[in-house]
Amino acid sequence: MKIVIKKDKKIAARYVADQIIALLKEKPTSVLGLPTGSTPKGVYDALIESYKASEVSFSNAQSFNLDEYLGLEASHPQSYAYYMRKNLFDFVDFKATSTHIYKGDTHDAQKECTDYTNRIKAVNGIDFQLLGIGPNGHIGFNEPSDTFNMHSHVVTLSEKTRKANARFFNDLASVPKKAMTMGIGEIFSSKKIYLLALGKEKASIMAQFLLSDEIDPHLPASILHIHPELTVVMDKDAACSYQNA
Ligand code: GLP
Repeated sequence: MKIVIKKDKKIAARYVADQIIALLKEKPTSVLGLPTGSTPKGVYDALIESYKASEVSFSNAQSFNLDEYLGLEASHPQSYAYYMRKNLFDFVDFKATSTHIYKGDTHDAQKECTDYTNRIKAVNGIDFQLLGIGPNGHIGFNEPSDTFNMHSHVVTLSEKTRKANARFFNDLASVPKKAMTMGIGEIFSSKKIYLLALGKEKASIMAQFLLSDEIDPHLPASILHIHPELTVVMDKDAACSYQNA
């Protein structure tokens, strides 16, 4: 594991964006695994800036989003499909057919999950997976559990996750109770993984994750300890408990 600590959020985001840009230069057909939430926002801003400066193109790349709320259609402002359009896809040159995300309004979530796993397999897996981390150590929506769930699946969101994500909704009751997420297997089989953690709200979970190499499905991110190409990027705030330990 490589650990990179940057002075602030903006510098950390630019660092991650530059890794994506370097990969796309080397392999323009790269498959990117993308997260949502507040953490990747600065990375997407930096990618848009570089795209506008003609430093990067996504025209031959593909993307797979990590997860989506079950029950929200793509036009719902809190859906991750909407987030991706408003924060990245509307501003860069991905082909519309090259960006993949679970259909939140599907009537057959199991089938949607199986299809998604097969679509990832069909492109030979993800080259570069960017991850955020939930305050309970979840990655994608792989919640703490007694076992690791390997493939795309429907998940019942924990109260902690619903509360953490309620800030994007009018109230807690509006936060969906279920979601679809890539499994640990799909995430883990990515060739490179970048875990980005920003802000002091992530300090405690990052210390927990980094200070023990025990692999425990109750801290889903712990599986990443054995990934051969993991880079953890933090700003000083997210790194503070780890550094002071
Ligand atoms: C959500 C997403 C995760 C994300 C996490 C952290 O639950 N499903 O993919 O990494 O929350 O979000 P944030 O970056 O807003 O802290």
